[in-house]
Amino acid sequence: MQMHEIRRAIVAACLEMNRLGLNQGTSGNISVRCGEAMLVTPTATPYDRLAPEMLASMRLADDERFSGPKAPSSEWRFHRDIYRARPDVGAVVHCHATYATVLSMLRVNIPAAHYMIAAFGGAEIKCTDYAPYGAAELSALVVEGLGPRHGVLLGSHGMIATGADLDAAMWRAVELETLAKQYYLARAMGEPVVLSDAEIEALVPRFAAYGLQAPD
Ligand code: 13P
Repeated sequence: MQMHEIRRAIVAACLEMNRLGLNQGTSGNISVRCGEAMLVTPTATPYDRLAPEMLASMRLADDERFSGPKAPSSEWRFHRDIYRARPDVGAVVHCHATYATVLSMLRVNIPAAHYMIAAFGGAEIKCTDYAPYGAAELSALVVEGLGPRHGVLLGSHGMIATGADLDAAMWRAVELETLAKQYYLARAMGEPVVLSDAEIEALVPRFAAYGLQAPD
């Protein structure tokens, strides 16, 4: 993809997050890896006022420096640190989707109560402790909580979904909010049955070859 196409795709994904009810106001942020750099949404900008040229570009090797007309998302650090830690990740989606956030407020890890958790590369989605937004401490918790998987809950904050590209990361953001909602509702009625690690591990490779939306 050309850079201008990536910029347009990020803006479209931001609007899609609002349309799907995954996000609201100026919450959330999205980035895409572009070689040795990343393009990331600007801070404190409502998505319906976001234009492709407003995105910030940051080199992954650098701290804080950016190019662009607006300062990058306050969460640039965890976006950058995920790319540094995970060469397989090409896009990062962060949002405050309701059910994922509710579980994060309770510090609940999502277990394998539904097989779709395998789309995240493991049998559990972990929830981190709380750290203030934008802090290096939050970024360290995020990288640890994500581990080798493609989703993590951020304590009293929200969620992150990742993918090889933006389509895959967006697909997982929707699936993670769905898993959170299903698990919340199942817990409201009783104690959900948790599938074994072996059941999930058998599915993980199948998701690697699953459909156009999950190329990783
Ligand atoms: P930004 O507007 O700086 O991207 O922050 C929004 C957010 O969700 C912080 O976690």
